[in-house]
Amino acid sequence: MKKKKRKISIKKTLRIFIPIIIILLIIINKNNILYFYQSKTTNYKFNTIEKFHKLNIYNDIKSHKYSKTLEKIINTKYYNKKYTSYYINIDYQNNPNFFKTTNELLALKYNAKDINNIYKYLDELDIDILLKNDYLKDISNILNLNYFHKENLKRYIDFTKDSKENYKDNITYVNIGLDKDYYTDIVKEENTDDILILVNKYHALDSKYVPSDLEKIDKKYNRGNNNLMRKVAKEAFEKMCEAALKDNITIYSGSAYRSYNYQLSLYNRYVAADGKKIAETYAARPGHSEHQTGLATDIMNAKLEFISGNDKEYTWLVNNSYKYGFILRYPKGKEDITGYMYEEWHYRYVGVDTATKVYKSKLTYDEYIARK
Ligand code: DAL
Ligand code: ZN
Repeated sequence: MKKKKRKISIKKTLRIFIPIIIILLIIINKNNILYFYQSKTTNYKFNTIEKFHKLNIYNDIKSHKYSKTLEKIINTKYYNKKYTSYYINIDYQNNPNFFKTTNELLALKYNAKDINNIYKYLDELDIDILLKNDYLKDISNILNLNYFHKENLKRYIDFTKDSKENYKDNITYVNIGLDKDYYTDIVKEENTDDILILVNKYHALDSKYVPSDLEKIDKKYNRGNNNLMRKVAKEAFEKMCEAALKDNITIYSGSAYRSYNYQLSLYNRYVAADGKKIAETYAARPGHSEHQTGLATDIMNAKLEFISGNDKEYTWLVNNSYKYGFILRYPKGKEDITGYMYEEWHYRYVGVDTATKVYKSKLTYDEYIARK
C-alpha cells in the first residue's frame, strides 16, 4: 500500500514537470525552432536566416523568392546592406569576381535588370570598360539590340554621354561611324559584287574595282554620257522607266556608272570650283562614290534636268522606285547621316526586297545597314 502511494506521487510529479521542461525548452530554443521553420519555407540556410534576423532584414526578404546571390554574398565581406534589394534580383554568376564586380556596377547606379543583362551579354573585359566609365543610360535596351556590337562599347558610352537622341539612333550612328569625322577608319569593301554593298564616307571601293557585268542602258531611257549599269540594275532601271511611262511619267538615267578616275576628276573639279568643304557635301571622294558600283544613277526628268523635289517625276519615284529595287539614297533631313546634301535625283539599286524594307523603315541605307 505504501509502495503504491509513492508510485502515484512520482507520476504526479512527472505530469507537472514534463510540460514545464518542454515549455522551458521551447522558450530557450524558440528562435532555433522559428529559424528552422523559416529556413524550410524560404530555402535559405539556417545560418543565413540567423544573419537576416541579426541584420534586421528578414521581413524585407521573406516575400521574395529565394536568391542564391543574396545567400552567397551575405556570407562574405562584400555584403553591403544598402544593396540588399538589388542582390535579391541579380542572377548568381559562378565567377570569382562576381561580388566585387556586382558592387561596383551597383555603385555606378546600374540596377538589377541592367546587371543581369550585363552578365548575359558582356565578358569581363567589356565589363571592365563599363566600370571605368560613367553610367550608360538605357544599357539594358542597348544590350538587347541585335545591332549592339560589343567592340563599339566604349564608343557607345562616349557618344551617348552628351546626346539627346534616343538610344537606337545613338547606337546606329556609332555603328555607321558618325562618332568620328567623315573618312575616318575607312573600311575597304570586300564583297564588291554584292548588290547590297555599302559605299559611303566610311566604306570604300578599291581604286581598281570595275564591275564585271556593266551593260548599256537602253537609249530610250538614257540621256547621259555615263550610261552603264550592272546588268541586274540596268534591267530593273529599264523596267522602272517603262512602268513610269505607263503612268505618263518620263524619266532618264543622267549619270550612272563612273569609274574611279572619272570620279576623281569630277571631285577635283568640284573642289576647285566650290572649295573642299562645300564640294564634299555633294561629291564623293574617289573610291567612295556609289556610282563606281554600277548600281546607282542620277535620274533626269522629262525636261532633261536632274530631278528636283517639286517634279511629278520625283513624286512618282519616291512612291514607286522601291517596287523596282531602287531607293532614294540621300534624303532630306538626313544630311548628317549620309554626309551629303539632299539629292532628289540619286537612286541606288539594292533589289526589290531590300528596297521595300528600306522604304518602309524610313531609314537611310547607311542606317539600315548599321542596324543589321
Ligand atoms: N553625288 C554623290 C554623292 C557622289 O558623288 O557619288
Ligand atoms: Zn549620284
